[in-house]
Amino acid sequence: MTISPAPPRKRLFIRSWGCQMNVYDSGRMADVLAPLGYAPADTAEDADMVVLNTCHIREKASEKLFSELGRLRVLKQAKEQGGERMILAVAGCVAQAEGAEITARAPYVDLVLGPQSYHRLPEMVARISRATGSVIETDFPTEQKFDFLPDSTTPQGVTAFLTIQEGCDKFCSFCVVPYTRGSEYSRAATAVIAEAKRLVAQGAREIALLGQNVNAWHGEGPSGGTWTLSRLLLELAEIPDLARLRYTTSHPRDMDDALIAAHGQIPQLMPFLHLPVQSGSDRMLQAMNRGHKADAYRHIAEKLRAVRPDIALSSDFIAGHPGETEADHQATLKLIEDVGFALAYSFKYSSRPGTPAATAQMQVAEAEKDRRLQEIQALLREQQDAFNSACVGRSCEVLVTGAGRDEGQFAGRSPWLQPVHGLGSAGMAGQMVQATITAALRNSLTVRLEGNEALGPPPQTPRQEKAAA
Ligand code: SAH
Ligand code: SF4
Ligand code: F3S
Repeated sequence: MTISPAPPRKRLFIRSWGCQMNVYDSGRMADVLAPLGYAPADTAEDADMVVLNTCHIREKASEKLFSELGRLRVLKQAKEQGGERMILAVAGCVAQAEGAEITARAPYVDLVLGPQSYHRLPEMVARISRATGSVIETDFPTEQKFDFLPDSTTPQGVTAFLTIQEGCDKFCSFCVVPYTRGSEYSRAATAVIAEAKRLVAQGAREIALLGQNVNAWHGEGPSGGTWTLSRLLLELAEIPDLARLRYTTSHPRDMDDALIAAHGQIPQLMPFLHLPVQSGSDRMLQAMNRGHKADAYRHIAEKLRAVRPDIALSSDFIAGHPGETEADHQATLKLIEDVGFALAYSFKYSSRPGTPAATAQMQVAEAEKDRRLQEIQALLREQQDAFNSACVGRSCEVLVTGAGRDEGQFAGRSPWLQPVHGLGSAGMAGQMVQATITAALRNSLTVRLEGNEALGPPPQTPRQEKAAA
C-alpha cells in the first residue's frame, strides 16, 4: 500500500488594512489555502506566499499598498536569487478598484483578486504555479463566495468576527464601497447560526456580526421567508456559552424599531453601537445621499437610550465634504454636543475616483478641511475622555481575552468595547469576571477583580448621570 505524501508545508503571511470585514476575509483566505499546505507565518520574510488585503476607502489607504509592495519586491527578488519562490498577491478593495493599475505599476505581483473571488484562490494559486505572469480576478462572479468557501476552521479566539452581509446599495456620494464590494448580499440565517455555533465551539464568547450595512441584513430564514437583524440576534442569543453579541457597521436608515427594541430585550447584546452619521447638517446629509436628516439621528439615539439607558454610542464623521460651509460644520459640532459619543472616528474628506463627490463643485480647501477636522476631533476627544473617566469607580462585567502587556496581567474588554487590563492571568481567557474600574487611560481602562464581596450597583454612563442630574 502506498501512502500519498502530505502536501509540502508552505507558509502564508497575510496583512490586512481597512475594516473588520477585511480581517474576517483574511481568516477565510487562510482557511481556503490550508488544504494546499499553507500554514500561517509570522512575517513576510518567513513566507512562501504573501497576501496584502487592502483598503480603498481613503487616498492614504491605497498609498500604503504601493509602499508595502516596493518593500516586498526586494524580498521576492532576494528569495528568487536564492532559488526560492514567493507568491505575491494583492486582495481587497484596492485590488478590486485598481487591479489593472497594480499589475502595470507592480508587474512582479503574481495575483490580484477582488473581495468576491476569495473562494477561487486555490485554483488561482494552482494557475500561477503552472504559469508565469500575473493573474487578475476582479469580476463580480455570478456565484456567491459564501456558498463556495469551506467552513471556517481557523479559531479566532475569545472575540470573533462573523460576516453576515456584504456590499452596499446606498451609494453615498463620497464612498467607494458599492464599487469595490458590489451590491448588497445577506447570508442565510442557517449558515450564520451554524458558523456562530462553530465559533463558540472553538472558544468564542463574544461575536461581532459584520457587514458594510449590517443592519440592512435580510437573510433567508430557516423555514423560508426573510428574517431581519433583530430576529437573527434573538436566535443567536439562544446559543449557550455565547455571552456577548455585537454588530457593526450600521446605517441610521436601517435602524428599525424592532432592532432598537432588541437592545432592551437581549441581555447579550452589548450596550455599545457604532452608528455613523457623517454630518450634522441636513444640507450635507442630502448632498452625501445619506437618506435621513440630522434630527432622525438624534431621535434614534433617544430611542436607544430609552430602551437601554447605559448604551454608549459611536460614530464616523467626514470633515469638508464638497459644498460644506462653515454653517454646515457648526451643525456637525452641534450634533456631537447634542448626542454625546463614547467613541468616534473622524476623517478629512478624501476624493475617491469614480464617486460622485470627486467631481462635485465647491471642493473645500485643504487647510479648511484640516481646521474643521481638528475642531471635530477635539470635541470628540473631550467626550471620549469624559466617558472613560466617568467609568472609574463603577463595577462591570469584563470578558477576559488573554494576557495583558505586563507579567501577571490579563487583558479583556468592557461591555462598552473599551480594552481593559488588570491583575490576573492569561489562563482566565474566556471567563466573564466582575470587576471594578479603577483608572481610565486615553484608550483603555484599568480594573480590579471583585472577590466574593457584594457586587456594586450596575454601571452608569455619563449621559445617564447628566439626565439624572
Ligand atoms: N458602511 C459604513 C461606513 C463604511 S466606510 C456607513 O455607511 O457608515 C467607513 C467610514 O469611512 C465612513 O463612515 C466614512 O466616515 C469614512 N469615509 C468613507 N469614504 C470616505 C471618503 N471619501 N473620505 C473620507 N472619509 C470617508
Ligand atoms: Fe459607503 Fe454609504 Fe454604503 Fe456606508 S452606506 S458603505 S458610507 S456607500
Ligand atoms: Fe476599506 Fe473595503 Fe473595508 S474600502 S473600509 S476594506 S470595505
